[in-house]
Amino acid sequence: MEDHYFGGAWTEIKLDILRKYLDFYTKALSKQGFELLYIDAFAGTGSRTEIIPSAPILNQEKEKVSLDGSARIALNIEKQFDRYLFIETNSKRIKELEKIRAEFRNTYIRIENADANNVIADLASKSIWDCNKFRGVIFIDPYGMEVSWETLKAIKTTESFDIWYLFPISGVCRQAARDYSKMEEYKKKALDKLFGTRDWEKAFYQKVSQQGLWEDKENTVRTVTIKQMEEWVSNRLKSIFSFVSKPVVLPPKGAQLYSLYFCVTNSSPKAIGLAQKAANFIIKGH
Ligand SMILES: C[S@@+](CC[C@H](N)C(=O)[O-])C[C@H]1O[C@@H](n2cnc3c(N)ncnc32)[C@H](O)[C@@H]1O
Repeated sequence: MEDHYFGGAWTEIKLDILRKYLDFYTKALSKQGFELLYIDAFAGTGSRTEIIPSAPILNQEKEKVSLDGSARIALNIEKQFDRYLFIETNSKRIKELEKIRAEFRNTYIRIENADANNVIADLASKSIWDCNKFRGVIFIDPYGMEVSWETLKAIKTTESFDIWYLFPISGVCRQAARDYSKMEEYKKKALDKLFGTRDWEKAFYQKVSQQGLWEDKENTVRTVTIKQMEEWVSNRLKSIFSFVSKPVVLPPKGAQLYSLYFCVTNSSPKAIGLAQKAANFIIKGH
């Protein structure tokens, strides 16, 4: 079995939120005549390997344990989705996903060994989308800034999906150097792709003058805190989605790495109301 180490103790918070929402979702929508879809855009292996440190006082040795990752969580909920799509670029991890497909042989599982941005763009461009027929959940769980803004816009056009998006806020901080003149062009382009605009430049940077011995110098520097950046990200997501939750800060203590967002694509007040109520309830529980 291919070990997949990722995240930390806080990863269980993220996965528990996902588990609770998927459980709520399939139960709430199962009798409404929709075909229910689950897309795991960054599926991994379906499992998460963790090392439990030794505890000599309890006479306990160091131990390697395998926990359910998002794909297995989505399959193991009480009331399954009608169809599953797992997307993953790493071919060794794809092999693990194929073992899962063999294990759940009565469930419809499609696996794509490709970039999630391309698969989603292709899927969303099909003319089949009818939110009276299809509804689903997409879990977007990248390591870093792999998700392009175009992908989020493509999902919105379906009007069919609720999204849990692990947004890489610390990755944004790393790319956005304090001194703008020291920021390489490829980093600016990575932020453009993530946000679908260069507006982050005006939002994050300001010209400040610094006193010199002979003359004052003007420098463009990042003046916002991580919280202000996160607020800008929230507003940016709100510019396309019908509802965007307050972000769940991960990890909850210490330096923030990610902001977990819940977003709704469907525009009907009924769909928004139900999804918002359930997601807020689950988020508050954490
Ligand atoms: C944080 S892990 C996902 C963990 C998984 N959601 C779970 O809970 O078990 C991110 C995964 O995304 C994959 N990946 C990276 N870039 C990708 C892309 N552009 N499209 C699809 N998968 C990608 C990586 O190989 C890695 O397995």
